[in-house]
Amino acid sequence: MNMRFEPARGLSGELRAPADKSISHRAALLGAMSSEPVRIERYLHAADTTSTLDAVRALGALVEVHGEDLVIRGTGLRDAREPEEPIDVGNAGTLMRLLPGWLAAQEGRSFTLDGDESIRRRPVDRIAEPLAHMGAELHARDGRFPPLVVRGARLRAISYELEVASAQVKSCILLAALAADGATTVGEPARSRDHTERMLLRAGVAIHRNGRHVTVVNTDELALERVTIPGDPSSAAFLVAAGVLVPGSRLLIGDVGVNWTRTGFLRILRRMQGIVLGDLEDETGELAPEEPVSDLDVAHCALEGTVVEPEEVPLAIDELPLVALLGCFAEGETVVRGAQELRVKESDRIAGVVNGLRGLGADIEATHDGFAVRGAGGLRGGSIDAHGDHRMAMMGAVAGLASREGVEVIGMDAATVSYPGFVEDLARLCS
Ligand code: S3P
Repeated sequence: MNMRFEPARGLSGELRAPADKSISHRAALLGAMSSEPVRIERYLHAADTTSTLDAVRALGALVEVHGEDLVIRGTGLRDAREPEEPIDVGNAGTLMRLLPGWLAAQEGRSFTLDGDESIRRRPVDRIAEPLAHMGAELHARDGRFPPLVVRGARLRAISYELEVASAQVKSCILLAALAADGATTVGEPARSRDHTERMLLRAGVAIHRNGRHVTVVNTDELALERVTIPGDPSSAAFLVAAGVLVPGSRLLIGDVGVNWTRTGFLRILRRMQGIVLGDLEDETGELAPEEPVSDLDVAHCALEGTVVEPEEVPLAIDELPLVALLGCFAEGETVVRGAQELRVKESDRIAGVVNGLRGLGADIEATHDGFAVRGAGGLRGGSIDAHGDHRMAMMGAVAGLASREGVEVIGMDAATVSYPGFVEDLARLCS
């Protein structure tokens, strides 16, 4: 579905960002891995997280939906049922990478995971390798891509250094470690989002962090009881960008998750002189069990270019397309380095951002590990292809509101993957 976004005269009002996608996936999976019921308040009901509910049902968990909330009655850590059909993860990379961690521990049972066109282009060897090290058997197409077959086994604890900072891969190993035979340690080259660690801590698991390493001790049971999902800072980022870019805007976005491993975009924006008030969590050394939230107060303002360095990338990974968009409106140059992971997201986000924004009038070029944009006083407008990628679709919509002539987004329906009410929310703020 294509949709046009005309230049806006200013966004104003208050709203709540949709529930966090990353935390929703994790809550549903840990709920399914628990033997006592887990209540999840404010679950994200979007395409990706619905795939997770379908997957855990296929594995034997019972899911009751009570409006926004859920109760999951899981199977316990070691008793997932072997489904007759392959598990369809749809577009959800987080499900494709986290779920095998649990399945690897299901002794003697086999599971096949598959998904849509985009999923079939995204590598899974990065999870297959550590899980094989722990003792599971895995087969991926061409050794690298879905469909992925996981045959569960009795797992060994390992020490593993990740080559790329990926919360998905780290989380997969931590989930497998719960049923392994001792303490597993995962090291990451830079800090990535730590929702899995925080939720495991709340579930009574012995888990601790030491710098870039996290160690988890195996357990027999999770004790989670209740999870409340905060608003998603990655979804909120589109509203924040619209508020900053469209003249005359003033917005209040309520209940946004501000875990410091997710607020890289807000810090980059502040460095660009963007006005966004909120109580962001400071970097934590020791693991904290909570997921802090804050309201964000956003206003239109002039921006300056900045350089995003590699260690900041995992903290803003899903918002980097928006950094490029902000760069089109900023004074001077905006450069993102060390972001080659963008090539293996829901689409190739380096190619999509560079070609897409150039088509709207941007002065932008791709580099081997990111992009460089020279601010040219905004964007003319035109049309942009989302390439089936929710975040590219939403970036195109925001570009339209801030452009001089409006933008047509090809494939706007992709937004339902993480933010089903996005177009309605924008319309309400623009009226
Ligand atoms: C996610 C982690 C990120 C992010 C993805 C969600 C998660 O991927 O891009 O949208 O929920 O763990 P990587 O950590 O693998 O880069």
